[in-house]
Amino acid sequence: MADKVRDSWASRLGVILAVAGSAVGLGNFLRFPVQAVQNGGGAFMIPYFVSLLLLGIPLMWVEWALGRYGGGFGHGTAPGIFHSIWNKNRFIKYFGVIGIFGPLAIFIYYTYIESWTLGFGVLGLIGKLKTAAVARESMQAFLSDYQTRLWPSYLFFLATFFANVYVISHGVSKGIERFSRWAMPTLLFMAVILMIRVLTLGAPYPEHPDWNVLNGLGYLWNPDFSALRNPKVWLAAAGQIFFTLSVGIGVILTYASYLKKTHDVVLSGLTSVSTNELIEVVIAGSIVIPAAFAFLGPTEIEGVAKSGAFNLGFVTMPMVLNRFPLSQFFTGLWFLLLFLAGVTSSVSLVQPAIAFLEDEFNISRKKAVRIFSVVSFVLMQPVIFWFSKGIVDEMDFWVGTVSLVVFALIEVVLFSWVLGMDKAWDEIHQGADLAIPRVYRFIMKYITPLFLIIILVSWLVSSRDIIFMTNVADTNKSFVLGTRLALLLSLFLLAFLVKIAWRRREKGNS
Ligand code: PFF
Repeated sequence: MADKVRDSWASRLGVILAVAGSAVGLGNFLRFPVQAVQNGGGAFMIPYFVSLLLLGIPLMWVEWALGRYGGGFGHGTAPGIFHSIWNKNRFIKYFGVIGIFGPLAIFIYYTYIESWTLGFGVLGLIGKLKTAAVARESMQAFLSDYQTRLWPSYLFFLATFFANVYVISHGVSKGIERFSRWAMPTLLFMAVILMIRVLTLGAPYPEHPDWNVLNGLGYLWNPDFSALRNPKVWLAAAGQIFFTLSVGIGVILTYASYLKKTHDVVLSGLTSVSTNELIEVVIAGSIVIPAAFAFLGPTEIEGVAKSGAFNLGFVTMPMVLNRFPLSQFFTGLWFLLLFLAGVTSSVSLVQPAIAFLEDEFNISRKKAVRIFSVVSFVLMQPVIFWFSKGIVDEMDFWVGTVSLVVFALIEVVLFSWVLGMDKAWDEIHQGADLAIPRVYRFIMKYITPLFLIIILVSWLVSSRDIIFMTNVADTNKSFVLGTRLALLLSLFLLAFLVKIAWRRREKGNS
């Protein structure tokens, strides 16, 4: 509300690093290689780049522009931002609820996985992974054991949770921005060291000279055009673009709402995309895949990637690094790199909820952080204690997949159709240091929405099994259903809060 001064970014580099920090995360180092391998390596990269150009980059620009626009009205989250674009529509603000709900829900499972990286980082550095990392079975058992035991995993979870709360409690410029300013260069440095380590591994087995790092790179980079006809590969590639860029969920909207009206969004948005892509395809693409290829060979790498989303990063990587000098150092470095990348992302998932409480309820930051911490901490407990029951997969489907596409579609339609392409073009170019190629007027108006609709429909059709829980074990069905109901309930609860906020605002104005 108007009587409070909103926080704002202290510098241009700072906001770019914060947005890049949100984008660069576990998605780059863990999810990307697994998706690429599961979808046939070289077959994945063409749909990936097409999705980057037609979905990722336009959505990043749209979110920076919409966020800055909404921030001008004192709104940092989607309900208020959507309402400022289309104030004649009474319902549009409720669609914005996804922009608070989504980040909160992802935070709940993302932070838990992030805490494993801290745990494995510390255990790796002090040499506790060394014995397990000699064989796949023992390393796999170590991971499962870690996930199911309270000690020391819960301690690392608490440390991770409070690290996030600590950063966020200092606010946007003094917390997130300051943290990103040192965390981003540090993680880049760590990633480059690991990349060099992997690229100099050569061929670890004399009996398999073709299992080498160079062929591992070829596995990712030799295009396979035949796979372009497979819709599954397209869906996976588009999903990865959304996830890795942090678009379609509301966090970039919130970050951009702290920009000044005169701040460029075109070049800054593009710089954050480029930083993410450099780290994802060039650096992360030269770590897990070549290492795993040289170590496992072309057939087994696919088997391992398909056997579980975390196996390449948490099982194979420590085994590879274990075989070479300074193994403790490199294993620790790998997991602590993941941890740092994770924290810069998870803090961005917190900010929408904080901004909502601050902007729409006039609650102080301190109090908002306290409310958020209690609510999210409570919600995290079932995820931790019932991890094996399929809760995370269920959340990842509805929140990390379906909601992203729905929300992105609403955003792009509001921008290109409701605001209108002429006004939208002027808005995005205010203070811009770069002109967007004109072809993007057409892309943003027709291609991006159409692409999103096609994805949404094919996703829902191809996910019939997930929707009807056909493949869920009977013992897990009640947990999965419970998760679904809890998600629905949270959505309604947030919609109700939006209703209250608006009613209070109207009363305040009359
Ligand atoms: N982009 C992050 C990653 O690649 O790990 C994950 C993420 C962060 C997704 C924030 C969505 C989000 F809003």
